[in-house]
Amino acid sequence: MTFKTLMMTTVATLGLAAAAQAQTVGFSQIGSESGWRAAETTLTKQQAEERGIDLKFSDAQQKQENQIAAMRNFIAQGVDAILIAPVVATGWDSILAEAKEAEIPVVLLDRKVDSSDDMYLTAVGSDLVHEGEVAGKWLVDTVGDKDCRVVELQGTTGSSPAIDRKTGFEKGIAGHDNIEIVRSQTGDFTRSVGKEVMESFLQAENGGENICALYAHNDDMAVGAIQAIKEAGLLPGKDILVVSIDGVPDIFKAMSEGEANATVELTPNMAGPAFDALAAYWKDGTMPPKFIQTDSALYTMQDDPAGQYEARKDLGY
Ligand code: AHR
Repeated sequence: MTFKTLMMTTVATLGLAAAAQAQTVGFSQIGSESGWRAAETTLTKQQAEERGIDLKFSDAQQKQENQIAAMRNFIAQGVDAILIAPVVATGWDSILAEAKEAEIPVVLLDRKVDSSDDMYLTAVGSDLVHEGEVAGKWLVDTVGDKDCRVVELQGTTGSSPAIDRKTGFEKGIAGHDNIEIVRSQTGDFTRSVGKEVMESFLQAENGGENICALYAHNDDMAVGAIQAIKEAGLLPGKDILVVSIDGVPDIFKAMSEGEANATVELTPNMAGPAFDALAAYWKDGTMPPKFIQTDSALYTMQDDPAGQYEARKDLGY
């Protein structure tokens, strides 16, 4: 038994609840590329406050090197745990090894890494492939036998949601030769790049006349693209179907106005399950499962989008 494990066990045995309340957690957030990301940040701060956790927040501004530097800083400070939403999937082995060496548990939020799962305590997130598949199946059910040329806005290159949501969508439309992805490019999960790339898609596809549907890996890119479609003189949601992922208030607003058709919800509360897992681990060393899965529900225009917008608009998105 290491000294740190011995101390943890002693604290638990003595029932020193106050000690458990004074935990310090470092959180390396990707940045603020989307409404969903903003909500995850807000909720993580709220969840920490409610539990009496001292949260050290670091914004990586979309750069992996900033996340690695933040983690190294957290390790040097001797935090009790690290939460990280990893911007890309590769390149984490060394820093995860440093955290492990320092006996600091690491919890991954919302995105995956390609490192061995014994390098971190647990990962909280959705089934990203399933999300894409749900979006693809929605399109299959919606267009039936009609020919449908799809343009795809991918998330940040090298990120697990971009990789998995692409795979999932392709799985969802597999076997339906009438549906074809004709253009696919990254929009970096942002509204502005989503809009720019959609403009180029529209131009290349006869002003949009040849496009039947847009699949965007997140709602923010879809919202940017909707603007581009309108500026091109077409009706989003009708001339071009729009399906995306996240469930942010603005996509529900667009759905309520008939300008978007479907979204697959990703909960922004990844921190709640993460802190629950950490509390049990700190208490008596309970090991959580390696993957704590959150739900992914499909919402369409039939699911009271105006009500969904009202319910979500003040939640920190
Ligand atoms: O990792 C989750 C994705 O990252 C969300 O779908 C997107 O909006 C965010 O930027």
